[in-house]
Amino acid sequence: MKMGDNDAGVALNKARGGMVMQSKKRRFGLSGKLVLAILAVGAIPLVISLSVAYYRGSNELQNVIGASFQALAEGSAAKVDAELQRIITVDRILAQQAEDDPKVRAELLGDQSRGKNSPVVQFDWPPAAETEPVIDALKASRVTGLEGVSSPSDESAAAKVTGLYLDSATQQHTLHISTPIHDGKGTIPIGWLQRDYDVKKLFDPIIYPIRFGGTGHVMLINNSGAIISCPMLLTGSRIEDRTLLASVTKNRAGWTTAENDGHGRDVFSIAGYAPLAGVNALLPPGESWHMFVWQDSREIFAPAKSLLIGVLLAGLLSLGLLAALSYYASSHIVKPIQRLRREASRIAGGDLSQPLAIHTGDEIEELAGELDEMRIQLRQHISTLEDKVEERTRELKENQAEKDRVTEQLIQAEKVAAIGTMASGIGHEINNPLYVIMGRAEAIRDEKDVSACNEYARDIIKQTKHISAIVKNLSGYIRPASQHELEEIDVNEKLAEALAMAKLSLLDDRIDIRQNFVPVPKIFAKHEEIQQVFFNVIRNGIQAMAGNKGILEVTTTLEDNQVCIRIKDTGTGILAEHLGKIFDPFFTTKGPDEGEGLGMFIVRKIVTKYNGSITLESQVDKGTTVTIRFPGVEPI
Ligand SMILES: Nc1ncnc2c1ncn2[C@@H]1O[C@H](COP(=O)(O)OP(=O)(O)O)[C@@H](O)[C@H]1O
Ligand SMILES: [Mg+2]
Repeated sequence: MKMGDNDAGVALNKARGGMVMQSKKRRFGLSGKLVLAILAVGAIPLVISLSVAYYRGSNELQNVIGASFQALAEGSAAKVDAELQRIITVDRILAQQAEDDPKVRAELLGDQSRGKNSPVVQFDWPPAAETEPVIDALKASRVTGLEGVSSPSDESAAAKVTGLYLDSATQQHTLHISTPIHDGKGTIPIGWLQRDYDVKKLFDPIIYPIRFGGTGHVMLINNSGAIISCPMLLTGSRIEDRTLLASVTKNRAGWTTAENDGHGRDVFSIAGYAPLAGVNALLPPGESWHMFVWQDSREIFAPAKSLLIGVLLAGLLSLGLLAALSYYASSHIVKPIQRLRREASRIAGGDLSQPLAIHTGDEIEELAGELDEMRIQLRQHISTLEDKVEERTRELKENQAEKDRVTEQLIQAEKVAAIGTMASGIGHEINNPLYVIMGRAEAIRDEKDVSACNEYARDIIKQTKHISAIVKNLSGYIRPASQHELEEIDVNEKLAEALAMAKLSLLDDRIDIRQNFVPVPKIFAKHEEIQQVFFNVIRNGIQAMAGNKGILEVTTTLEDNQVCIRIKDTGTGILAEHLGKIFDPFFTTKGPDEGEGLGMFIVRKIVTKYNGSITLESQVDKGTTVTIRFPGVEPI
């Protein structure tokens, strides 16, 4: 028989059980890993560069915006300063004119006596008749004496700007400027030109137009946080955040960031600021005015943010593209590997017929080549193995045939030996009557007395009958070979025959033979082999009792539907150390003439051949019982 490819496959599959388990453990494919690696290579620099760009970009943006806000604050501060200087210049000219007017001068110098009702020198200036196209923000203009100045008069001051105050009559915020009127000779003032300006009208035209973006604007505040002019907040309202206020009301221009926009919202903001240097010099001590530029940070950073989002989206898009491309590329690498794996498992599955055809022109092709080399070698090995198995099977068969032949020969040899023993016994048995016959025949020859002759003749007949009986028994025992076929055998009959033969060939009178037969089913066997079994066992029993008195009891029974034969002797018994060897070929305790040690070996061979069994029970000096069981052909 040839070992098929599939059989080899099964064997191989078992051998690689461990390997299969291992491959099941794989959780993340090669292709996935490659894609992940490529994505990481793409994504990590993208994320890093975006973060750096965002951080640096927003920092730089903040710097640029801060600087420009500062410049704007400085510019606006300069404008407001210039406007105030212009107004002060005009006021000075008017003060000069008042000084030059003899009436005003006389009044101020106290040349005219003052009535009780007008303790203070005060009159409109310039006179109402004159037009004053200085500024439409002017609300009131008058000349007063020194007494009319509410604040302690500083004789040397050129001009004074009082801070912001709320006019209780008009509910408008007012800026009050006092310009000294000197006497012609020196610097000592003789009175003041007092002028009130509407703050909104004065500054709004300068401040309001400076707008940028949606929220960007300029505002004028004083150092206590009061709004002087702002396009968004009411004049007179306040900036409440002290920290923000402190950082924007410094003595120099600059810019800052704050957590508060100064307009009531807690948002991050950038603010530029600048002091109004010219104005501040004229303000009362402790007060200063500042320009403040502000824009909502969300608006400031909106372009940066949208740029970032744009870049991020582009980055994500390119990552997606990268993923797709890397998947495509990796599947080009992984596909041949997967094919290689399939091919390898095909080989492992035992299909060694097809060559591995993978032509990638790279290391995978080389690997496939080596695998194919292995496949070829495996195939050769398997084929050699198959030849060997075939050869070995043939050898085993031949050995078995040889063994069967030897056993058969042994059986034959044993039979011949048994017949030899038997023959010598029979020879002895026949010899005795033959001597008697010879003696009686000689007597007849010499005897004249007829009656005596008759007596001798009867003896001869008797002895002849005895011989005839022996021969008859013997011929019944030894049948022609043509009858040596399987047949239904009556066990009782065969036992009786064997006992008769034993009697003829072996027995002396001291052995008592007992037969206890019950009807039993027939067995299916070869006649001569069953005969051999029974004869061998009986002969052993008789031999065990040789030279002594004894009983040989042969019993048949039906036990568990089996034909059971017991052959019991009262002989020597078997030594315990010999019990295990009884059925070994050539084990004997007898001399060369009595036994060859094959009897029980052959008995067992034959019994087992007919699906029977044999057991021994023995006691030294008491005897031995051999029990043989055969399956019956059919129940009786
Ligand atoms: N009934 C028995 N009683 C005592 N010994 C026995 C009996 N049957 C067999 N044996 C022992 O078993 C041995 C082997 O028996 P056997 O195979 O018939 O060979 P052989 O009779 O030629 O010696 C005998 O030599 C004998 O010692
Ligand atoms: Mg024997």
